[in-house]
Amino acid sequence: MRIGLSEASRALRGAHAWRAMAARACGAMLLVCPVMAAAPTAPELPAITEKMFRCITQMTHVRHYYVDNLAGNLAGTVRAAESTTGEPYPVGSVVQLVPTEVMVKREKGFNAATRDWEFFELDVSADGSKIRTRGFVEVVNRFGGNCFACHIKAQSQWDMICDNSHGCDTIPLTRAMTGALQRTDPRCKNPVPPSPEDAAALAQLGAMLKAGAAGAAAAAKK
Ligand code: HEC
Repeated sequence: MRIGLSEASRALRGAHAWRAMAARACGAMLLVCPVMAAAPTAPELPAITEKMFRCITQMTHVRHYYVDNLAGNLAGTVRAAESTTGEPYPVGSVVQLVPTEVMVKREKGFNAATRDWEFFELDVSADGSKIRTRGFVEVVNRFGGNCFACHIKAQSQWDMICDNSHGCDTIPLTRAMTGALQRTDPRCKNPVPPSPEDAAALAQLGAMLKAGAAGAAAAAKK
């Protein structure tokens, strides 16, 4: 039997109707459907370059840290950051406590071990940001600390965000120190001289790092 043009187009219309119906069903039931997997609504992240990192205080302030979203979903990121019970951060989330360390939530399925977080350590100056190192479980900051090893200790509902009560080992940075680092981010235009409190916190941090470096050097000599 030859298939006439009208039968072919009927079959095609049938297929379209089926796809539309499946799409509606998937949407209604919030199922992960193969039909929907390629839907254009999946957030697309642009390639992440150093140009995307900016003056920390121009990001959105949530409690004591700053957030952003590279996929246009700032509301979702703020909701996760403000949640009192914890929820996963949406794709595109950028989280920073200090100017030089960044966590970016990559596309779903990017890296199961880090729950799709990519870690960055930056060098920052008046000229902007340079990426010193980036990646997943292997990233080590300039003090020799592995980002993942610390952040994985956060209780699971916090999506690897440590804060000071989510189960991570504490770090010796006080809120006065991180606040002072935020307010003196060299990437920000029209920097103002640090307040006496910020200057004191930065001096204390400097002394702590110097003592740490001296301790490490002494240990290396042994
Ligand atoms: C020694 C453990 C340790 C290492 C190493 C470490 N962090 Fe953290 N990080 C913490 C803790 C603890 C906090 C929370 C501090 C606070 O809120 O007082 C934190 C805070 C943060 C925050 C703010 C959100 C949050 O989790 O509270 C970001 C973003 C972050 N770190 C990124 C990084 C990146 C990127 C690296 C590696 C380049 C890194 N960290 C290395 C322990 C660590």
